Amino acid sequence: MNIITDISEMQKVADSFRLQGRRIGFVPTMGFLHEGHLSLIRHARQMFDIVVVSIFVNPIQFGPSEDFDRYPRDEDGDLAKCKAGGVDIVFLPDAKEMYSTQDAVTVSVERISDIMEGAIRPGHYRGVATVVAKLFHIVKPHAAFFGQKDYQQCIIIKRLVKGLNIDVDIVIRPTVREADGLAMSSRNAYLNEKERRAATVIFRALSSAEHLIKSGVKDMEHVRSRIQATLQEEKGLNIDYIQIVDPDTLMPLQSMVNNLVILVAVRLGNTRLIDNVHIWP
Ligand code: PAJ
Repeated sequence: MNIITDISEMQKVADSFRLQGRRIGFVPTMGFLHEGHLSLIRHARQMFDIVVVSIFVNPIQFGPSEDFDRYPRDEDGDLAKCKAGGVDIVFLPDAKEMYSTQDAVTVSVERISDIMEGAIRPGHYRGVATVVAKLFHIVKPHAAFFGQKDYQQCIIIKRLVKGLNIDVDIVIRPTVREADGLAMSSRNAYLNEKERRAATVIFRALSSAEHLIKSGVKDMEHVRSRIQATLQEEKGLNIDYIQIVDPDTLMPLQSMVNNLVILVAVRLGNTRLIDNVHIWP
């Protein structure tokens, strides 16, 4: 496994793989790798000749009062996991390497970046779209792998590649969960024991909503209020939003159409957690 910290070296290596006709699969991450990340890596490994993983805690996708400084990091552990997962190259730049130009250039996917997570975290998706566009130009992958866990991010990345005609296939993989249903996340490391137990309510609320819809309930306001009631059973949990939306446009739905996505964001203590389910009736 090769570790590359330099942008131009990564580009040169990517070019030479492409010249040899080898296909590059790419998994962008912010590190502190867990089974969710590893499932993306495994899938990329199965489908592609060359697997590149980037590890970069991207400062510009964190707001001024967010957790950039305390975001969990474990470089040695991450490198060991990548090696064990058969990764060919880890791209590991520092912030100076990624953002060295004086005049900042950013990429913004309009409108869809301003709702839900984007409304609560202004500028977050501009930071995500910018770093992903840069990484695509650096790693030059044929395909890139993202987790459904961050559903809105997936839609924004799809719009990004379409809008800028970037020639990269976007592959979305299912959310990997703990045994009790909690979606794996690097931020779960922030939860104390009590919060960790309380966090299981999120998956319970989403699962019972799925059950309601599959048993024929059509009124989405009813489904929404049931989710709210379940979440509120946990004292100390604050709801940021519960949204039932069209899977492609992310616009709210009043009633069941073809299929839909339910997205929730909550706060437990100082930790924000997001999750979602995609439901076909
Ligand atoms: P990060 O949170 O490290 O996640 C990297 C990738 O792993 C994302 O595509 C995310 O959706 C996926 N992932 C996280 N938890 C998952 C789970 N439980 N199951 C399946 N996939 C999961 O998302 C980011 O980093 C950043 O915003 C990034 C795209 C790297 C840009 O900085």
